[in-house]
Amino acid sequence: MTTLETPSIAEALTACVSAATVVRRDEPMAKHTTLRVGGPADVYVEPATEADLAVVLNYCQGNGVKFFVVGRGSNLVVRDAGFRGVVICLAQPGFGKIEIVGEKIHCGAGAKLKDVAVVAKRAGLAGVEFLEGIPGSVGGALRMNAGAMAGATFDSVTSVRVMDYAGQIAEMTPDAMAVEYRCCAALKSRIALGAVFQCRPEPRAEIEARMKAYSEKRWSSQPAAPSAGCMFKNPAAIPAGRLIDELGLKGAKIGGARISLEHGNFLVNDGGATAADVLALIELLKTKAREARGIDLHTEVEIVGG
Ligand code: EPU
Repeated sequence: MTTLETPSIAEALTACVSAATVVRRDEPMAKHTTLRVGGPADVYVEPATEADLAVVLNYCQGNGVKFFVVGRGSNLVVRDAGFRGVVICLAQPGFGKIEIVGEKIHCGAGAKLKDVAVVAKRAGLAGVEFLEGIPGSVGGALRMNAGAMAGATFDSVTSVRVMDYAGQIAEMTPDAMAVEYRCCAALKSRIALGAVFQCRPEPRAEIEARMKAYSEKRWSSQPAAPSAGCMFKNPAAIPAGRLIDELGLKGAKIGGARISLEHGNFLVNDGGATAADVLALIELLKTKAREARGIDLHTEVEIVGG
């Protein structure tokens, strides 16, 4: 795609979606990632409805336009050159509902994980406390099978509402979704629209105490500076954070990107970092881990664009 085509994609999309759908050009992706790096997306869309999302997907598929879905951008590195195509974000209220139905919680893909945890706690429903500290959306958590404090998203998911790239909607159960540590393969070719979490009733004070303990552990072991959470999946042999610590690499810096002093598996933006700084630091860590310990580190974060 040339830059000349960008206005026509934005215009074509604007013409076929409802007025409430947001369509912007040259959207800086640094605004949409927790690491605060990344160049512009040619076109950025926040669909107002599922019907509009289907229209956007059909347009992209029919015209050979690349697209990807961003949640809250907490597990994402967008390269400095940005993204040639359409970035879709399910940030509008229609995608963000959270409803309690008995012992289940029905959540839209755009709902914030923290809000899901808080709504569950208020209703005396346990099982999703660990979501409280993950700065992501339900859609992103499903796609990555995000986890913390020994819990993972799919531990309590009973069904996921998905849209395929032709705009068809279906309900899927986790057993058909190829779920593993930090990955859900079924959502590499479909978009999560929402999910149902199965919880269990418990006294509110107990749920609250667990959330407090998780929060304290997080604040004492993870950095507050902008980051994308853990950068690497934990290898079987050793947690990536401990490995990087043992290699003496905490505090290492390239440009504005630094390996956190609090936790070796977090790369933080010290201010003014570029995606190139972050990617160079990732390469440095991979090389050192391979040379010193024979361990291959694999990124947990998605790297897109360029
Ligand atoms: N450790 C070190 N030095 C460090 C960091 C960690 O020695 O700089 C040691 C810790 O003392 C501990 C072990 O390594 O013995 C594991 O560390 P931690 O308990 O912090 O857990 P982790 O395996 O590094 C995982 C998830 C986190 C999640 C935490 C807390 C992965 C890749 N990371 O981290 O998830 O918040 O557990 O439950 O699975 C994320 O995925 O983005 C993420 C932040």
